[in-house]
Amino acid sequence: MSSRFVAGFRIEDALSAADNLAAQGLAVTLDSLGENVSTPAQARNSAQIYHWLLDALAKSKIDANVSLKLTQMGMDIGHDVAFQTVSTLVDHAVQANSFVRVDMEGTPYTQATIDLVRKLHAKPANRGHVGVVIQAYLRRSAGDIANLLSDGIRIRLCKGAYQEPAELAFPEKKDVDTNFVALTETLLKSGVFHGIATHDPAMIDATKNFARAQRIDPASFEFQMLYGVRRDLQRSLVQEGYKVRVYVPFGEEWYPYFMRRLAERPANVLFLAKNFFRK
Ligand code: FDA
Repeated sequence: MSSRFVAGFRIEDALSAADNLAAQGLAVTLDSLGENVSTPAQARNSAQIYHWLLDALAKSKIDANVSLKLTQMGMDIGHDVAFQTVSTLVDHAVQANSFVRVDMEGTPYTQATIDLVRKLHAKPANRGHVGVVIQAYLRRSAGDIANLLSDGIRIRLCKGAYQEPAELAFPEKKDVDTNFVALTETLLKSGVFHGIATHDPAMIDATKNFARAQRIDPASFEFQMLYGVRRDLQRSLVQEGYKVRVYVPFGEEWYPYFMRRLAERPANVLFLAKNFFRK
């Protein structure tokens, strides 16, 4: 059932999904699934998959980069372990003229993730080759965006996928949406290339309308969506001339990712069950 949202177990599966998407005019970001490793050897293994991916992508002609999680790179062992591991990957991405997106996890990691990305981006050669994710459900996000923009760091804005307490995150969808629109406007005006990551038609319309009203070039940002989610919308945006990047997760550790996708849309449980029994 997970194959609707996960491209497969192996790098080859992810590359083949990426090729199919590229043939439809979509860009991709590849994510080797995995979170919270507890030994340096596991962190090295996780990183090795990304080195192979960067090598494979350098040989292909498609518009593709990579997304990773710091807990998969050793963050729970030590921030220095994660920094060293990701630093080597960003060096590789610079050589390959690619880009590393650091996903955002739960709030115990927010500040450390932002600090680590700012430190990586401060190396002049890395400028524009590493970026981060900001979650619109967090009350702190406007401040974080201001700091990241002062460094010219590329941001992916999403709503946020983890369970967080109300002191830290807006519990109501309408407040998350209002913040998402306000933060999108800040990003679009910044002159830095950002990703607006949502499947919500209201957020997408607000983004398009703001860009049009402010005469912001649609080529100066991209929409981002998850593999298998609102494929109709992905294609229609491409037909309208917008850039769309699809987040393609793959690997054996698909379970937590898959459960977050089900949790954010309970209708998916029914949808997947129907398709499963139809086969
Ligand atoms: P919302 O949840 O309000 O849904 C709006 C509509 O979109 C729904 O009515 C439905 O039509 C459709 N939809 C949404 N989710 C769906 C699903 N799973 N299946 C089917 N339809 C669905 N989060 C995070 O905390 N850290 C991160 O680093 C990232 N990274 C990331 C990358 C990319 C490219 C995307 C698109 C998303 C993320 N996320 C994330 C996940 C994000 O925070 C959020 O949980 C989901 O994108 C769902 O929120 P929406 O903005 O789509 O809107």
